Amino acid sequence: MATKVPVLDLRAEHASVRSELEAAVARVLDSGQFVLGPEVEAFEEEAAEYLGARFAVGLNSGTDALVIGLRALGIGPGDEVITSAFSFFATSEAIQLVGAVPVFVDLAEGSFTIDAELVEAAITPRTAALVPVHLYGDAAPMAALLEVAERHALRVLEDAAQAFGARYPQRCVGCSCSGGRPGQLLAGRRLGTLGDAGAISFYPTKNLGALGDGGLLVSDDAECAAFARRLRNHGSERRYVHDTLGYNSRLDALQAAALRVKLPLLDGYNAARRELARRYDAALAGVAGLELPPASSEHVYHQYTVRVPNGRRDAVAAELARVGVATAVHYPNTLERYGGRVHGELKHAQAAAASVLSLPLYPTLTEAQHELVVSALRRALGA
Ligand SMILES: Cc1ncc(COP(=O)(O)O)c(C=O)c1O
Repeated sequence: MATKVPVLDLRAEHASVRSELEAAVARVLDSGQFVLGPEVEAFEEEAAEYLGARFAVGLNSGTDALVIGLRALGIGPGDEVITSAFSFFATSEAIQLVGAVPVFVDLAEGSFTIDAELVEAAITPRTAALVPVHLYGDAAPMAALLEVAERHALRVLEDAAQAFGARYPQRCVGCSCSGGRPGQLLAGRRLGTLGDAGAISFYPTKNLGALGDGGLLVSDDAECAAFARRLRNHGSERRYVHDTLGYNSRLDALQAAALRVKLPLLDGYNAARRELARRYDAALAGVAGLELPPASSEHVYHQYTVRVPNGRRDAVAAELARVGVATAVHYPNTLERYGGRVHGELKHAQAAAASVLSLPLYPTLTEAQHELVVSALRRALGA
C-alpha cells in the first residue's frame, strides 16, 4: 500500500515559504560569500535573541555542537560524563569523540528523560559534566540536575538537538519544586540556555530544519563561545595561526539564510505541533495496549512518541504501514552497547527501546491524515 501519511513531509512545509527560500538563496549567490560571513552572523544574532542567550555559534551539525561544546567546557580524556541511556547515538558518540567516557543513567519512570534522582550516585572523582537530553522536544529535569551539578562542580551541556524553541515548564520536571532552583528561575526559559552551554541541531527533520546539515552552540559564557568559534575554524582566530587542534565545522551561508526565513515561523510551527499532539492525546486516551507521551504545556513534540508494550510494537507498526501510515522507532536500542559505563540498571530505558513508536506529526499534517492515523492505530490495537 502506498504511504498515505508519511512520518514527516518536508515538501509541504517548504512549499509555503518557497519564494522566501528562493530569495534567500539568490541573496547568498549574489553575495559570493558562502561560509560564515554576514548571513551567518545575522542568524547567530537572531537565534541568540530568540533563545535569550548571550552567544550563539553556528556550526556544521548538532553532533559538532556537542563535540565542540564539550571541548569548550574543558571536557576531555580521563573525564566521565553522565548522560541518558536513551538518546540518538550522537549524544554518546560526541562524549567518546572528545576522549571522555559516557556514564549511562536510566530514564525516570514514565518519562523519556534522565532520572535526576539517580545522577548523584553515578558521580565519581572523574565525573566532569552532565549531558541531559531534551528527548523528543520535552524538558529534562534541569532544576534538579543543575542543583547536583552545582554541588559537585560539574559542567552541564544540554543536548537540545530536538528541542529548539521549547521552554522549561512552569511545573518543574522530575521534582516537586515550582520551576527552578532558588535564585534562578528556570520556568519559561528556552531549553539549551539553562546549563553552561546547549547544543542544537538543524538537520532538516528538526523543528527548525536547514536545507542540509547545521548546528548551533549557545552559551552565556564568553570564553566558552570564543573557544567554540576557534574550534569550528581549525583552532584559529587569525588566518594561519592555529593555537589548538580544531575542526572544519563552520555553518554555511546558504543554511543560515534558509534558517533566517524559518526562525520567525518556528513558534507557529511548534504551536501547530502542540495542537496536533493534544488531538492525538484526546483521540487515543484510554486505548488498551497503548501509553501516551507525558503531557507538558511547553513540549515542542519534535516527535509524538507512544509506547506499545508487551512485544506488540513491531506488529502494530507493520499493520500501520500496511494501511499506508508510516511510523518510526526512535530508538530501537539503548546506548551502552556502543561503549561507556552503565550506572545501575537501565530497565526503563530498555523498556522504552522495546516499545516506543513515533506517529506522524508535523505542522502541515492534515485533519484527514490525523484521523487516518488515529483510526488505523485503534484498529491495529483492536480498540
Ligand atoms: C538527541 C540528538 N542529539 C544529537 C543529534 C545530532 O545532530 P545532527 O544530526 O545535527 O548532527 C541528534 C540528531 O538527530 C539528536 O537527535
